Amino acid sequence: MEHQKIIIALDGHSSCGKSTYAKRIAQELGYAYIDTGAMYRSVTLAAMESGLFDQTEAPSLELVEGLLDSIELSLQFNSSRQRTEIYLNGRMVEDMIRGMDVSGHVSYIAAISAVRRKMVEYQRQLGVQKGIVMDGRDIGTVVFPEAELKIFLTALPEVRAMRRYKELIEKGLNAELEEVRLNLEKRDRIDSNREDSPLKQAEDAIVMDNSDMTVDQQMEWFRKKYNSLMVELNGEN
Ligand code: DC
Repeated sequence: MEHQKIIIALDGHSSCGKSTYAKRIAQELGYAYIDTGAMYRSVTLAAMESGLFDQTEAPSLELVEGLLDSIELSLQFNSSRQRTEIYLNGRMVEDMIRGMDVSGHVSYIAAISAVRRKMVEYQRQLGVQKGIVMDGRDIGTVVFPEAELKIFLTALPEVRAMRRYKELIEKGLNAELEEVRLNLEKRDRIDSNREDSPLKQAEDAIVMDNSDMTVDQQMEWFRKKYNSLMVELNGEN
């Protein structure tokens, strides 16, 4: 008998390995992986390309809201690269949104309520059929408060900075460890203190600190949680 499909919400701090973990879980269960950070990053890229950040660190809400109407996002699975890619108005921007320039502006854009409303609406549509692993900051609290499994991931700041730094270098992108560390610190501060949908642990989320864990260890932990949840939901193992 096939297991009931559920929604898995994976929230947590910047660069604590959410996407690696979410992808592995999705692969194992045959679920879709949805990276909501990529959506906020794509809107940020659009704002940067429209010159909204040219003169200021904080463009006016009117300008950002005006831009939103002209933004169309979509996700497509690229089978040759075995990854889901994000499209901004028909253009694949998956690689362009990961650099430090977008990271430096994204928290400002992600704090704007009109932006969040549009992204959350899209995210909920993607979850209609269930069978998804969605990672972000507000998935368990705002997007899918009814998600059957909520995991809140965290790790020590220095571990996170090193992981992000290595990831950027491996992708051939420019980065300095200290700049990465400061950016993570700043993003966590803004993401956790914003008024609309701040980063926080849902009351019913299970916390995992993966500072000293390999991905395989995290998967072992996950299987136990998932299997006991399935027993609860379906009365099976
Ligand atoms: O997961 P990430 O680092 O790619 O996310 C980029 C930024 O987007 C992050 O600093 C906070 C914001 N974000 C958010 O506010 N809500 C989400 N659900 C996902 C990301």
